[in-house]
Amino acid sequence: MKVTVYGSGYVGLVTGTCLAEVGNDVLCVDIDERKTEMLRNGEIPIYEPGLDALVSKNVEAGRLNFTTDPAEGVAHGLFQFIAVGTPPDEDGSADLQYVLAVAGSIGEHMDEYRVIIDKSTVPVGTADKVRDKVNAVLASRGVEIEFDVVSNPEFLKEGAAIDDFMKPDRIVIGTDNPRTTELLRALYAPFNRSHDRMVAMDIRSAELTKYAANAMLATKISFMNELSNLAERLGADIEKVRVGIGSDPRIGYHFIYPGCGYGGSCFPKDVQALERTANEIGYRAELLNAVEAVNNRQKEILFKKLDGHFDGNLAGKTIAVWGLAFKPNTDDMRAAPSRTLMEALWAAGAKVRAYDPEAMDECRRIYGERDDLTLVDSAEEALKGADALVTVTEWSVFRSPDFALVKQRLRQPVIVDGRNMYDPQQLKADGFSYYSIGRDTAHD
Ligand SMILES: NC(=O)c1ccc[n+]([C@@H]2O[C@H](COP(=O)([O-])OP(=O)(O)OC[C@H]3O[C@@H](n4cnc5c(N)ncnc54)[C@H](O)[C@@H]3O)[C@@H](O)[C@H]2O)c1
Repeated sequence: MKVTVYGSGYVGLVTGTCLAEVGNDVLCVDIDERKTEMLRNGEIPIYEPGLDALVSKNVEAGRLNFTTDPAEGVAHGLFQFIAVGTPPDEDGSADLQYVLAVAGSIGEHMDEYRVIIDKSTVPVGTADKVRDKVNAVLASRGVEIEFDVVSNPEFLKEGAAIDDFMKPDRIVIGTDNPRTTELLRALYAPFNRSHDRMVAMDIRSAELTKYAANAMLATKISFMNELSNLAERLGADIEKVRVGIGSDPRIGYHFIYPGCGYGGSCFPKDVQALERTANEIGYRAELLNAVEAVNNRQKEILFKKLDGHFDGNLAGKTIAVWGLAFKPNTDDMRAAPSRTLMEALWAAGAKVRAYDPEAMDECRRIYGERDDLTLVDSAEEALKGADALVTVTEWSVFRSPDFALVKQRLRQPVIVDGRNMYDPQQLKADGFSYYSIGRDTAHD
């Protein structure tokens, strides 16, 4: 089948590549010339495990092509996937300008039936806006051409995106027309073989389903972070509490890790956007507001623990930071807790020596050259001359360090562990001042 995908980011590139991998003829359209040129040359602009090999293979097979020309994109695919960004607007609502720009160009260039599929995460009612936009452009051209708009939210996780796309838990299809459900059933058939994973529903419910999933996951994280702060004040160990509740199958072990707050391109913006949607319709979304507030506070916790250890004297100190990406196996630093930490350290007059296995280029792109940031080539190198180590992302390479070497390299044996990777007893015995999440005594 012929498929066009707008947006060659984390979602669009994975969608296009996986659809090509099962034999479809895919054209990816992006407005970013540099990115498109890189992709044409077989270079991948993002880090996603396994994606480079899959892109090269499908480009070579001629099933995956890239362009910046929307006219070519509209002419190519019966299926027109919109997978462009929906970043937060100034007020936290989802900025739909990129989605509607694609809708506009589809309207401008379309000359036969098309299925327009919203894969971007978009507020309830966006499919109507897309339809209105296409209709308005078609009317201005003085033509009447049939098309359908479908909501098909994406649930892939960065770091495991290919597996998630190839073996999805569910394929949510929101339509108001049974014909499009059948077209999409055929397109998704290769990913839907062992049992039927397609969940068909109306468009608004599909749009809300994506926000519901992310808001639920964010709520679990904020809940555990709230509990970890209580544990610190009550002399309890949140890790024991975690195992104690996770063993209840109604709760489960997934997504109940305490830490230094959630980041990334989805949870923060999607919780905010859902809050904005609630505001717009005059509903006070108390739980969502609290989930966001708890997370914002949690992202400050690493700085607070460091500041507490150094009695507010961080000026002139150097802090080693392990992990910049918002989670392991990605280079994505959008809304990452590392950014909150580093920015607070800089504001306090401290310097940062940082290492991340994949996000160094992204960090350079965001912060540029600055005297108070040194990016180094290894975890050990980050420790040199540092007054303390902070772990922010639980990459496997940080999980079992040589603590004797860590102690030797650091100027002072201080570790603040934002992911509870280490054993407090062992580190205490090794002579470290060790702080973690929900296992310390809170001083406030
Ligand atoms: N990243 C994730 O893990 C994830 C998971 C599920 C859903 N989503 C949602 O998917 C959407 C895309 O997210 P992403 O992380 O892939 O974004 P991204 O920023 O990585 O990629 C978006 C791409 O769209 C391109 N673009 C912008 N305007 C365009 C236009 N008019 N035509 C063609 N291309 C255009 C940009 O140049 C960019 O390459 C968002 O709504 C996001 O919330 C993301």
